[in-house]
Amino acid sequence: MNNNNSNRLIVVTNRGPYNITEVKDKWKFEKTIGGLTTALLPVLKQTAGLWIANGEPPGFYPHSSGHFDFDLRYIGLTPEEILGYYFGFSNDALWPLCHYFLGRVNFNREQWEIYEKVNQKFAEVTLEEAKPGDMIWIHDYHLARVPLYIRAMQSLAQIALFWHIPFPSPEIYRVLPWRKEILQSLLACNVIGFHIPEYATNFIESTIELLDATIEEDRVCYNGHTTKVIARPIGIDYATVDKEARSRRTENHIRQLLDTLRGQALIVGVERMDYTKGVLERLRGMERLLELHPEWHGKVTLFQIVTPSRETLEAYRAKKREVDEIVGRVNGRFSTDVWTPIRYLYRSFSPSQLIVYYRAADIALVTPLRDGLNLVAKEYVASRIHQDGTLILSEFAGVRFQLPEALMVNPFSVDDIANVLQQALTMPKEEQRRRMQDMQARIKLQDIKWWAQEFLEQMTPLRLPA
Ligand code: UDP
Ligand code: G6P
Repeated sequence: MNNNNSNRLIVVTNRGPYNITEVKDKWKFEKTIGGLTTALLPVLKQTAGLWIANGEPPGFYPHSSGHFDFDLRYIGLTPEEILGYYFGFSNDALWPLCHYFLGRVNFNREQWEIYEKVNQKFAEVTLEEAKPGDMIWIHDYHLARVPLYIRAMQSLAQIALFWHIPFPSPEIYRVLPWRKEILQSLLACNVIGFHIPEYATNFIESTIELLDATIEEDRVCYNGHTTKVIARPIGIDYATVDKEARSRRTENHIRQLLDTLRGQALIVGVERMDYTKGVLERLRGMERLLELHPEWHGKVTLFQIVTPSRETLEAYRAKKREVDEIVGRVNGRFSTDVWTPIRYLYRSFSPSQLIVYYRAADIALVTPLRDGLNLVAKEYVASRIHQDGTLILSEFAGVRFQLPEALMVNPFSVDDIANVLQQALTMPKEEQRRRMQDMQARIKLQDIKWWAQEFLEQMTPLRLPA
C-alpha cells in the first residue's frame, strides 16, 4: 500500500463511492451504484490514494478513520449547482449526445455556465489537495472542463482523464454548442483514455476537424501541448466476483431462488432505469418470444432488475412509466395461476445479491441501445463458475469487442431479440461451455488491476503495488 504521501493517486469523480449518513452518532457508508464506482473502488483500495467527489456531508474522511483504505474528500454542491451541472448539462446534454440520442438533447447556456463553475470548483479543490508528483486522474463527462482549469493554475500537473461513456462520431459531436471548449480542455490532459478504439478515433477526428489539431502516432498535438490517447476497456474485480460466486451463502440463496421456479429456465436483466439501456425493447422481445413460441409458456421467466436512476429528469421518469406499463401488459396477457413470465424488481441490489441472480440464470440479456462498455455482461461471465450459461449482448455495447463469443443482437429489433432468445434457450451445453470458457479467460486476464496498471503506466512515475 502506498500510504506515504509521495506520488499519490488522486481520483476525481462526480459520484463518490459511498452515500454517507449519520445514524445514532455513527457514520453509515452505503456503496453507490454504477459502473464507475464498481471499477474504481478496487483501484483506490489498492493504491490507498485520495478520492475527491461531489457528496454529502462535505468534508475530509481520512483512511485512518478505519472506514476505508483511502482518503475521501467530498465537495458539497448547492441544489442549484446540482440541477444545472449534474441533471442539466451532464445528464440532459452530454449524456444523450454521447449515446446518440439527439432527440433527447437539451442545450441551455445557463446550465453550461453552472457546469463551468462547478468544474472550476473541482479543479480548485483538487489543487488544494495535490502535491508535486501526485497523479490527478479525472473521470467522465461530468468533469470535462476540469483539466483546463487545473492546467491553467498548475502548468506541470500530471493529468489523466478516463471517459467512461461512448465518444460519438464527429458528425454527432459537432452538434454541441460548446464543442471546442470541451475538446480544448480534454487536450490539457497528459493522457486521455476511452474503452475502445472506436471512441478514441472519434475523439481524435473531432480534434482534427474542430481544432485543426495535428496527430503524431497516438498523440494529439494542440496549442504546444501533446496528449496521449489510449483505448483500454475497464475491467472487473474478477477474483472477488469468482470467490463470491463460489461461496456457500451464494449457493444457499440460489437454491431458494430456484425452488420458486420449479425447473423453469431463468433469464436475467440488470441495469439502471435509463433510456439508453433498452429495457423496453427487451421486454417487447420477451413478449415476442412468447407469441412466436408458445412451447415456452410456463417454462421460462425473465427476472428484470431495474435500479432507480436520475429520477429528477422527466426522461427517466417517463421511461419508468413505460416499463411499468409493458410489464403489466405482458404479465396480464400471458400469466397463469402458477406462472408469471416477467418478475420485475425496481430497486437496488448489492453486488453479492446480483451474483446470486447471475449464477442462477441460464441466460443474461444485456441489450443496451448504446453503452460505453457494460460491466453487467462481464459480471455475468465471471459468475459462471460451471462455465455454462449464455450471454446475449447488444451490438451497441462497447464490451462486444472483448466478448465476441456472446450471442449478438440488434437491441432495436424486437424480432431479433426473440430469435436470439430462442437460440439461447436451445443452445447445447457444450457450445455454451466453449463460448463461456473463452470469454472468462479474456476478462479474467483483463481485469480491473490490468486496466488500472495499463492506464497508470502511461503516467510517470506511479505504479500499482504488486
Ligand atoms: N449494480 C449494482 N446494483 C444494482 C444494479 C447495478 O451494484 O442494483 C452495479 C452492477 O453490478 C455494475 C454497475 O452497477 O457493476 C453497472 O455498471 P454498467 O457498466 O453495467 O452500467 P452503468 O450503470 O455504469 O451505466
Ligand atoms: C455511468 C457513468 C458514471 C455514473 C454511472 C451512474 O456509468 O459513466 O459516471 O456514475 O453511470 O450514474 P449516476 O448518474 O447515478 O452517477
